[in-house]
Amino acid sequence: MSLLETLAIPIIQAPMVGAAGVDMVVAVSVAGGLGSLGVASMAPGEITSAARDIRAATDAPFALNMLVTRPGDPSPEAVDAALERLRPWYARVGAALPDRPNQFAYDFADQFRAVVEAAPAVASFAFDILTRDEVAALHAAGSMVVGTANSVAEARAWAAVGADAVCAQGMESGGHRGAFLAPPEDSLVGILPLVATIGAAVDIPVIAAGGIMDGRGVAAALALGAVAAQMGTAFLLADQSIANAAWKKAIREAGDDVTRLTRAISGRCARGIENDFMRQMRAVEHDVPAYPVQNRLTQALRAAAAARGDPSVGSLWAGQAVTLARGGDAGELVEAWWREAREAAQALAERTSR
Ligand SMILES: Cc1cc2nc3c(=O)[nH]c(=O)nc-3n(C[C@H](O)[C@H](O)[C@H](O)COP(=O)(O)O)c2cc1C
Repeated sequence: MSLLETLAIPIIQAPMVGAAGVDMVVAVSVAGGLGSLGVASMAPGEITSAARDIRAATDAPFALNMLVTRPGDPSPEAVDAALERLRPWYARVGAALPDRPNQFAYDFADQFRAVVEAAPAVASFAFDILTRDEVAALHAAGSMVVGTANSVAEARAWAAVGADAVCAQGMESGGHRGAFLAPPEDSLVGILPLVATIGAAVDIPVIAAGGIMDGRGVAAALALGAVAAQMGTAFLLADQSIANAAWKKAIREAGDDVTRLTRAISGRCARGIENDFMRQMRAVEHDVPAYPVQNRLTQALRAAAAARGDPSVGSLWAGQAVTLARGGDAGELVEAWWREAREAAQALAERTSR
């Protein structure tokens, strides 16, 4: 039986770089769910110490999550042109245009080694696929491997390299699309058909992600055959969320149907609350350099906007059901969602047995 089937509460707090830190992970895992720490923006040493901090707080299982990026080297001219395009945006938030960076992301192999050494109960991945050897290294360390899929083909690919479970990421999801076999635009499948078709195609457990905001959604995911529900946006207003104030305000004040997909912010397709930057960059979003380059080039811009409390520039990652986000302690939210899920299942059982 996989660890996911033995969780006291089958809710996984989605890894969320920039929104969920060690405190969130600990709160969720202590409550009986599975907390996940996104380590994509961390140096290897930071990954090691974050895992140590979680273990100092709890013996409960947790996940570390990586974004599989094996970047090519962009030409200096392309980087300079991309920076130049951002000049008016930097001016708008009163920040200097940065120099051309020497490095765009931490080396994946170095980060991967730190994750293997940290040996979390679960190691999850998005953006690309691991090799069989990489999966075997994690297994040897005692970690179970979860791969993110936006399509049935991607789920089959993860099963073929030996993953222990697959996270079916519906098009509703907030944050980056995990698609790696086809363009994200060709892999926009809703959570309902995605979980059902992946479940029919692979023998490993399926995790459902995308638009799950409360116990009803958790119950629906389980009814579809998912082993657990992975929730991201639902945690963005939790007490332990480290999302910046402008982002939280945009979530609290979000109107109906406000999220869009964009490449303009990071160079990779992601869903967030639409702001001026997304709107005005839409015409050129396919010209910006691919992740992680554009992500690095907008890093100081997003930080400056956040420091000014300006939501019109920067990343307001959130899923389609963002208006249902609520505040409170992350551990108590998990417990409340599980109570609601049981009530929803009970109500459905009564309804269907009439
Ligand atoms: C703010 C934010 C950051 C995210 N960062 C990551 C990440 O670092 N790694 C990852 O695998 N998924 C990441 N995701 C996607 C989640 O794993 C998950 O697919 C998504 O949150 C599910 O949809 P929901 O937001 O509607 O619950 C992120 C999502 C959000 C909202």
